[in-house]
Amino acid sequence: MSMMDIINKKRLGHELSDEDLEASFLGYYRGTVPDYQMSALLMAICLKGMTEEEVFKLTDIFIQSGEMLDLSAVDGVTVDKHSTGGVGDKTTLIVASIVASLGVKVPKMSGRGLGHTGGTIDKLESIPGFRIDLNREEFIRQLNKVGFAIISQTAHLAPLDKKVYALRDVTGTVESIPLIASSIMSKKIASGADKIVIDVKVGKGALLKNQEEALEISRLMKKIGERYGKEVDTMITYMDIPLGTSIGNALEVLEVMKILSNEENNYLVALSKALASKMVQLGLNIPIDEASRKVDESLKSGKAYQKFMEMVEAQGGNIAGLRVSAYTKDIVSTKKGHIINMDAYRFGKLSLDLGGGRKTKEDKIDPRVGIVLKKKIGDDVNIGDVLCTLYTKEEGYEPKEDITDYYEFEDNYTPIENIEEVNPF
Ligand code: URA
Repeated sequence: MSMMDIINKKRLGHELSDEDLEASFLGYYRGTVPDYQMSALLMAICLKGMTEEEVFKLTDIFIQSGEMLDLSAVDGVTVDKHSTGGVGDKTTLIVASIVASLGVKVPKMSGRGLGHTGGTIDKLESIPGFRIDLNREEFIRQLNKVGFAIISQTAHLAPLDKKVYALRDVTGTVESIPLIASSIMSKKIASGADKIVIDVKVGKGALLKNQEEALEISRLMKKIGERYGKEVDTMITYMDIPLGTSIGNALEVLEVMKILSNEENNYLVALSKALASKMVQLGLNIPIDEASRKVDESLKSGKAYQKFMEMVEAQGGNIAGLRVSAYTKDIVSTKKGHIINMDAYRFGKLSLDLGGGRKTKEDKIDPRVGIVLKKKIGDDVNIGDVLCTLYTKEEGYEPKEDITDYYEFEDNYTPIENIEEVNPF
């Protein structure tokens, strides 16, 4: 069957055979299928979906395009963690530091930013000297010595997913349950961990927009894991608002350090603790309550912070060289009210516009740009208050729209001073 027949078959909603999937995806990998035909097939998959059998086969094709990492030389149980992606999502760096400080090995192969969402590898590359390309021996040595290591999806592991992932990013074909499930699971299985915890993000700022999609992808990923003898656990968590207080690569690394130094206490901290507890539960085979206690202790004692620093140093990073842009612009509110919601998606797009993400495969990220949120849900705001600060590439950046509109204010909000005026007591 020709590539055009395969595209048409999917466009009409039919199931692709193993041979169709091999011919199209392996053809793309080998370069005989061009970008434009693969883009059309991906779009047809986005619109028509895939059966479970197709997803299993595609995952297999992704895995077989590279090698499976053999982690048998790592002492102890290995637990990997993945997030389906969100805005300001720096949980991996926090969670892996905590979990590794408690003796569970975390072999982490991470991706780059995709669409409006950021990627752990881009964040780490904002640290001068940080090596995301450890070879297999270095990776295993670091896992045994430090307890965790984070590398980029190398050319050897699921390389076809890497190629497809980059194309999806620029062709509007990211948001597809079967494509996300096979992409994530192929990397997780190829990277060899014994157990896997997946943070399935749902909400406006996530790739999955509602609970049904999140449940569906969780079920699918667990099933894929089962086929490969991997224990997969998922947590469905919310991503309506940006996670934490910063968006942008270097800014997010700074935020991670603050959290690991116990200087913040917000939803991101709670989420990180919950994910870490699940990983510790799986890794040490202990009840969840005991795992949570250990997680709290690791943070409070500074062990998790030390572990993060150890990992950065082991991978050649010079944390003192981390820089954010010197050009900033305060965004002031054009409205008055009580913030009840924030649009994570629009903040993600803004970060992309500032240069913190890629619009085309070839784009270079500027690690120093981003957004620091000064007001969040629950805050009262007056006209002229600073809502957020933008870190921009150059001086004089002017946003294309009113950023106040990214915030939702309570309609019948009564400002605090008025409440006092009408207070009969
Ligand atoms: N993360 C991945 O690794 N792949 C996707 O397709 C989406 C998020």
